Amino acid sequence: MSEVPVPVLQVDGLVKHFPVSRGIILRRQVGLVRAVEDVSFEIARGETLALVGESGCGKSTTGRLVLRLMDPTAGSVRFKGEEIATLDKGALRRLRRHMQIIFQDPYASLNPRMTVGEILAEPLQVHARRYPHQFSGGQRQRIGIARALAVNPDLIVCDEPVSALDVSIQAQIVNLLQNLQQCFGLSYLFIAHDLAVVKHISDRVAVMYLGKLVEIADKKTIYARPLHPYTQALLSAIPKPDPSLRTRRVMLQGELPSPFNPPTGCRFHTRCPHAEARCATEEPKLREAAPGHRVACHFFETLPAPIIVARAGAAKGKFAERLAAFEAAKQTRTSAGQ
Ligand SMILES: Nc1ncnc2c1ncn2[C@@H]1O[C@H](COP(=O)(O)OP(=O)(O)OP(=O)(O)O)[C@@H](O)[C@H]1O
Ligand code: SF4
Ligand SMILES: [Mg+2]
Repeated sequence: MSEVPVPVLQVDGLVKHFPVSRGIILRRQVGLVRAVEDVSFEIARGETLALVGESGCGKSTTGRLVLRLMDPTAGSVRFKGEEIATLDKGALRRLRRHMQIIFQDPYASLNPRMTVGEILAEPLQVHARRYPHQFSGGQRQRIGIARALAVNPDLIVCDEPVSALDVSIQAQIVNLLQNLQQCFGLSYLFIAHDLAVVKHISDRVAVMYLGKLVEIADKKTIYARPLHPYTQALLSAIPKPDPSLRTRRVMLQGELPSPFNPPTGCRFHTRCPHAEARCATEEPKLREAAPGHRVACHFFETLPAPIIVARAGAAKGKFAERLAAFEAAKQTRTSAGQ
């Protein structure tokens, strides 16, 4: 019998609550922000899992918990089979070398008083005499990636790594991340809200809503046959790949409730076009719709099919075009340089 390989990352029942306090002199806790609530997923070696959802749904918190940059309220995070949610500081420091993070704004994560040489020299001993502000956004993201790769990691959490970049640069960085993944067998947790980019880079997609995973499946399934009404709404709202719209967040009808006071039952029931009485009182569990495809909705078996596939495909086409144009330009540069 062949052995099943241990996933690079196994997240099980992850919970993060932030206490909210009021009062200046007598501070007292008045409640909890339920940022991450019972989240479970796995990432295999060389695989990219995308984590998508609206602002504030808990994506970055999940990414930070995975790297143990903060302690979880509950749950388990195993890195190559080893539990890290309870590791002591020394053991954690050793393990951290194998897990890195790339941020949306590399400028904020690069020390402005260190030269790039010094930043890279922390792990590498190389020299360069320029400071982060002397580079463009795309160059800085490359430096952020170089820094992450310098310690030869297995897993990289990419927290919106291209969201702040010009559209043409996005394609270059995504292409770079994919090439590096192939060279080094890296696994990515790719946090994003641009579903066109996610469609390009991911193997599987996990959709979060107010701290909970509502759907997870391989990329093809999510885009061709999304079963959760929230996933369907997100896909229908893919913004046009027009540079002037690149920073716009995916928005749904109705107000996004707060994770400080999430709705009872199904958290999506206040905005769901298919909600019924049961949805306000009973929380749906993640159930298997097909092997590898899990959905948290009471009624996914009987909901009407969405009318979104063509638009999702169109968005992908545009991103693929950007990438093709970049590849062509690179080819020209390479042959001109020979
Ligand atoms: N240190 C903290 N203390 C209190 N609340 C926090 C803290 N960090 C995050 N939160 C809250 O937890 C929730 C989830 O935040 P998080 O940053 O994980 O969301 P996100 O999905 O990454 O959003 P965005 O797309 O805007 O980056 C938010 O309501 C946020 O305000
Ligand atoms: S459980 Fe109800 S409210 Fe929640 S997604 Fe399904 S139909 Fe909508
Ligand atoms: Mg975030």
